[in-house]
Amino acid sequence: MSAESNIPYENIQRNQDERRRLEAQYPFFKKHVRRNRVIFDDAVVLGDNAAILDVGSGAGSWALDLAQTVPLSVSIYGIDISTTFFPETHGPNIVFSKHSGTALPRDWTEKFDFVNQSLLAASYTRDEWVQNLKELFRVTKPGGYIQFFEPSHESWDCPPDSANGKMKSIYKLLFENTSLIYDVGERLPEMLLDTGFVDVGQHKSTYPVNALNGGAAGQQGAEINIRWLSCLQPSILRFGLLGSTEEHESLLKEMQEEWNQGIPYEDYFVIYARKPVA
Ligand SMILES: C[S@@+](CC[C@H](N)C(=O)[O-])C[C@H]1O[C@@H](n2cnc3c(N)ncnc32)[C@H](O)[C@@H]1O
Repeated sequence: MSAESNIPYENIQRNQDERRRLEAQYPFFKKHVRRNRVIFDDAVVLGDNAAILDVGSGAGSWALDLAQTVPLSVSIYGIDISTTFFPETHGPNIVFSKHSGTALPRDWTEKFDFVNQSLLAASYTRDEWVQNLKELFRVTKPGGYIQFFEPSHESWDCPPDSANGKMKSIYKLLFENTSLIYDVGERLPEMLLDTGFVDVGQHKSTYPVNALNGGAAGQQGAEINIRWLSCLQPSILRFGLLGSTEEHESLLKEMQEEWNQGIPYEDYFVIYARKPVA
C-alpha cells in the first residue's frame, strides 16, 4: 500500500487476504459473468507456439487457468507492478515478472498472439489507460487479439435515492477525484478503435447479487461484492465521501437488502479486439 496514493486500488493492503479475494472472485466471474470462457472471442485460434500476455496478473488466476487449456509449447507471461500475489508454483511455460502495463519491455514489440487484461478500473488513471492501450497495441502481433474485463459504474440502473444510488454517486466522486475512468467498461470499445485496434466486440453481463432469489450465484456474488466494497472503505473515508466506518457498513447492509428486493448492481463487460495485420 502506498501511503501517498489516492488511487483506490493502491489503498488496499497487498496481503494474503487480498490474494485470497482475487483467487475467490476469479471462478465466480468466469462462471457467472464471462460465460465460462477463458478466451471470450470464438475467432481466436492459438497456434502451438503462441505467446500470451496477462497484464495486471495479480494472483495469476487467468494465466493459470489458460495454462490448463493449451499445450506446454505455448508461452504465457504474467506481469504486475507488484510481485506479492504471484503464485509460488506454476507450469514451466509461465513466467511472472514485475512490469507496469504502461511501460512494457522494449523487446516485446509485436511479441504476443493474445493479450488479456482484467480489472484495472480502480488502478489506471485516464492518462495511464491511454499509455497502456498504446503499449498493448505495440506488443500485440499484427493480426493478434486482445481482451479486457471491466465494469462500468455508469451502467448501474438503480434508483438515485436508494442505498445503491448513494454508492453509485460515491463511486462517481471517488473516480473523478482520482482521474480514473468511471465507465471504462463501456468506453473501452471507442478507446480501442482510437488506438488502432479493429473488429471490436463487447459483451455485457449483469453481476448476480440477489442472495434470496438468485441461487448460489446470487449469494456468492453478494459476498464477493461486499468484500470489494469493504476494500474501498479507506478511499471513501479519505475523501470524506462518508463520515465513518459505521456509516459505510450500514450503507453496505442496506445495499444488500435492496439487492434481495431486486435492485441490481453495476454491469461488467468483456471487450475484445484485433490488431490489424498491416
Ligand atoms: C483488481 S486486481 C486484478 C488482478 C487480476 N487481473 C484478476 O483479474 O484477478 C488489479 C491488479 O493490477 C495490478 N496493477 C495495478 N496497477 C498496475 C500497473 N500499472 N501495471 C501492472 N499491474 C498493475 C495490481 O497490483 C493488481 O494485482
